[in-house]
Amino acid sequence: MSEYIIKGGKKVEGEVTISGSKNASLPIIAASILNQGKTTLYNVPNIHDTQMMYEILKKLGAVVTKKKNKVIIDTSGIAKYDIPEELMRQMRSSVIFVGALIGRYGKATFSYPGGCDIGTRPIDLHLKAFEKLGININKNYGNISCICDKIIGEKIDLDFPSVGATENAILAAVLATGKTIITNSAREPEIIDLQNLLNKMGAKIKGAGTDVIEIEGVKKLKDVSYNIMPDRIETGTFLCMAAMTGGEIQLKEVNSSHITPVIHKLEETGCQLEVHKNEIKMQAPKRLKAVDIKTMPYPGFPTDMQSIFATALTMAKGTSLIVENLFENRYKYTQELIRMGAKITIEGKTAVVKGVRKLYGANVKATDLRGGAALVMAGMVAKGETKVENIEYILRGYERFDEKLKKLGIDIRYLSAN
Ligand code: EPZ
Repeated sequence: MSEYIIKGGKKVEGEVTISGSKNASLPIIAASILNQGKTTLYNVPNIHDTQMMYEILKKLGAVVTKKKNKVIIDTSGIAKYDIPEELMRQMRSSVIFVGALIGRYGKATFSYPGGCDIGTRPIDLHLKAFEKLGININKNYGNISCICDKIIGEKIDLDFPSVGATENAILAAVLATGKTIITNSAREPEIIDLQNLLNKMGAKIKGAGTDVIEIEGVKKLKDVSYNIMPDRIETGTFLCMAAMTGGEIQLKEVNSSHITPVIHKLEETGCQLEVHKNEIKMQAPKRLKAVDIKTMPYPGFPTDMQSIFATALTMAKGTSLIVENLFENRYKYTQELIRMGAKITIEGKTAVVKGVRKLYGANVKATDLRGGAALVMAGMVAKGETKVENIEYILRGYERFDEKLKKLGIDIRYLSAN
């Protein structure tokens, strides 16, 4: 596996342009299946996860042409409805294709998406939503086949505001007969982006961003061009890197309204922020103040920022309490931080982070996407050199990661495994 070598002691200083959102791109790429024609997307991040989505589309028979951050997807030639197991296993979020395949063809077969680095990641809420829409689900030996003659709009009450289940239910209902109402739907901005894309294709959806979404089924969709929203977690990641290194940063092409809980928490730590709609400037203090964090579904503090923000607090003045309410196994990165001198104890869902004056360079291993980015950030302030292994995790979700960090003054080198 590849690795990053980071030499500590440099501050983040300068300007960075934020890429398109990974978590908006994935369901929007899947949504292209609902139109038998061309979908042109701009500002799509060139990352491992979007590349995997293109591979799956090609396996299904679509034609994908990519040029930098523009991708044209022609789905008129799709002739298969099964998602290859090996690709499903490599990227569990490919389950988002299922709603689109059923929505367009009335069938889809796939293998159970395995758990991943942050938890078991069940899909029971996705399957319950499909059943509500009249879709028959057969499970055998880890494979699931979904089939139905006609999808009839229905009321779907989600037990939990699951992002993926909300997105999959929307995708399955767009071409249904009649109206579908999803209650207790997830309110993430990525779902608003999906609604905007689909409505531009001719769908009739309203309510994304709230906990009730209405989808009026339509007969067919049309070709469309669409610009993906900025990545709010990349925005938070670069802000935390400037915060932890005591630096200053200007972020361009952001949507600051998507990241308010993180902005407020950074202000509590003593950072000075100048927030505009599409630009954020921040000056960090010499040393952050400890703060407490509880992750919640949107619009609460995002779970994807938990490991990154908690890592920034390992050198804060005081003790911080972190509560992870979304995923049952999202503290693995703390073991690696402890090897660097951090003082963290885990008690159930709570991490107690006691601020220290120093971290020390060490050989550490990325355990997941966001935890991996957090370890790179720790390496920026650690004394000496830090080697972060298994950085394929990081490359899944951050575009041109080390290139952007070098431009911000960080001493980071990429070492390829092969
Ligand atoms: C999306 O995952 C994001 N991924 C995750 O980002 C993010 O952490 C998560 O939403 C929460 O915001 C993408 O959008 C591709 P959920 P998703 O369904 O849809 C439980 C990153 O780092 N649950 O909202 O899988 C589940 O176990 C990634 O970019 C069920 O119990 O998240 C979890 O505890 C990591 N049954 C909680 O709900 C289900 O059927 C939230 O999961 C589905 C979910």
